[in-house]
Amino acid sequence: MTKDMLIIDNITKRFGGLMANQNVSFSIAEGEIIGLIGPNGAGKSTLFNCISCYYNADGGRILFHGADISKKTPEAICRMGIGRTFQIVRIFKEMTVRENIMIGAFLKHVKLCDATAKAEETADLFGFTEKLDLPAGSLTISDQKRLEVARVFATEPKVLLLDEMMAGLNIQEVRETTDLILKLRDMGITLVLVEHVMEGIMPIANRVIVLDYGEKIAEGTPDEVVNNDKVIQAYFGKKYHAKRRGRTAPLQ
Ligand SMILES: Nc1ncnc2c1ncn2[C@@H]1O[C@H](COP(=O)(O)OP(=O)(O)O)[C@@H](O)[C@H]1O
Ligand SMILES: [Mg+2]
Repeated sequence: MTKDMLIIDNITKRFGGLMANQNVSFSIAEGEIIGLIGPNGAGKSTLFNCISCYYNADGGRILFHGADISKKTPEAICRMGIGRTFQIVRIFKEMTVRENIMIGAFLKHVKLCDATAKAEETADLFGFTEKLDLPAGSLTISDQKRLEVARVFATEPKVLLLDEMMAGLNIQEVRETTDLILKLRDMGITLVLVEHVMEGIMPIANRVIVLDYGEKIAEGTPDEVVNNDKVIQAYFGKKYHAKRRGRTAPLQ
């Protein structure tokens, strides 16, 4: 296991006078599930955009297996094995489920027959076999979010950055999503999850990073983070904390 597979080193990103990320640093070991949490506007999606080179950071570096990748293109980042999804799903609604997944598969499988086979194998893993011919726009939100993950999975990533995959899902769908995430982890994929759904992320994260106003304010195990005073003040509030106190069990 590589201890520091992905290193976020002092990343700063400004939008005009706004510091969306301010000297954010942490590292991720291969095989980990990292939770990235914090209030709306804290800079979580911006950090994903910097890691995936969707935006160029104004300062700092991203190291992947020791190499500085901060000035690469999003396509190069994807090809290197860092895949991401978007907070607002970006699937191709007019295209079928199969075609959506094929778009990911084409990255490493240029022949139509190979990309089709890869897409169908991926669909099986993600529970889409019966829905391969449906237009993606006809799927439920939960399925659309899972389809976006299936599409990026078909690019054969080593690391997945998933942005609010559990938002808007019911409790059953949250459970299915956590099962899927654990399955991906067991297949050797390292995951960074931006989430507000604490019942989903806390039972499965190895470590949690907390951002507030663009800065990292805490890092630790889920238990350490939920008991951290700064985090309680900035994000959880006393009510959530009282409800959670002494309860670290996974979803029932
Ligand atoms: N492309 C952009 N242009 C200008 N401001 C942006 C842009 N993207 C994000 N921001 C701002 O940066 C801050 C962090 O946003 P974001 O990373 O989306 O937060 P989070 O994902 O934690 O809710 C917010 O104040 C947001 O309005
Ligand atoms: Mg966001």
